Amino acid sequence: MTSFVGSKSLIDFDQKSLAVAAASIAFNPIFWNVVARQEYHNKILTKLAGGNSRLACYGLAVAIFSLGIFRDFLYEQALRTQPSHPLLETGLTKVIAGGLFACGNVLVLSSMWALGVTGTYLGDYFGILMDSMVTGFPFNVTSAPMYYGSTMSFLGTALWFGKPAGILLTAEVLAVYLIALRFEDPFTASIYAKREKEQKKGEKKAL
Ligand SMILES: *[C@@H]1O[C@H](CO)[C@@H](O)[C@H](O)[C@H]1NC(C)=O
Repeated sequence: MTSFVGSKSLIDFDQKSLAVAAASIAFNPIFWNVVARQEYHNKILTKLAGGNSRLACYGLAVAIFSLGIFRDFLYEQALRTQPSHPLLETGLTKVIAGGLFACGNVLVLSSMWALGVTGTYLGDYFGILMDSMVTGFPFNVTSAPMYYGSTMSFLGTALWFGKPAGILLTAEVLAVYLIALRFEDPFTASIYAKREKEQKKGEKKAL
C-alpha cells in the first residue's frame, strides 16, 4: 500500500516505523497479561525471585515501565517520519494537545500515587492485594484512569505534532486497552471475591 489518499497522503503506510510502533503498542498489554497470569497460576516470577513475591512484582513493574518508555519512544520515532496535516497545525490544536497531554498525565500519575507500585503493576496476581478498593481521585472520575490517561497522552502527542498517523495509533492504543480491560477487570474481581470468600470462612471458624 502506498498512500491513504492520492499524493497528499494523510498516513504514510510505507514507513516501517509505523508498523514497529503499532506492534509495540499491541505487544505491551499482551506481555503483561500473559506473564501476570503465569505468575498467578504457576508463580513463575516469584520462583525466579527466590520466593519473594514482592520483589517479583517490583521486577515486573520495572519491565512493564521500561516497555512503556520504549513504546513511547517508538511512537515518537514513527510520528517523525509521518506527514503532518495543515488542519492539525493550528494554535487551537496545540492548546487541545497540551490539555490532553496534561490531563492524561495527571490521570496516570495520580492513579499510580493512589495505588502504589504493587497496586499499579498487577500486585493482585502475586497475591499482594489492596486492603480496600481505592475510590477517591482519579477513580471517581474514570474507572480506568491509567488506560484512559495514557490514551489521552498519545492523542495529545499526535495533535501536538499534527500527525494523522498518531491519531490512528492512538485508536489502536485505546482498542488494546479496552480489550485488556475485558480480561483484567473480571480476573481482578475474581481474585478479590476469592479473598472475601476465604475471609468469611475464617470468620465462621473463629465463631
Ligand atoms: C473525587 O474525589 C476527590 C477527593 O479524592 C474530590 O476532591 C473530587 O471532587 C471528586 N470528584 C468527583 C467528580 O466526584
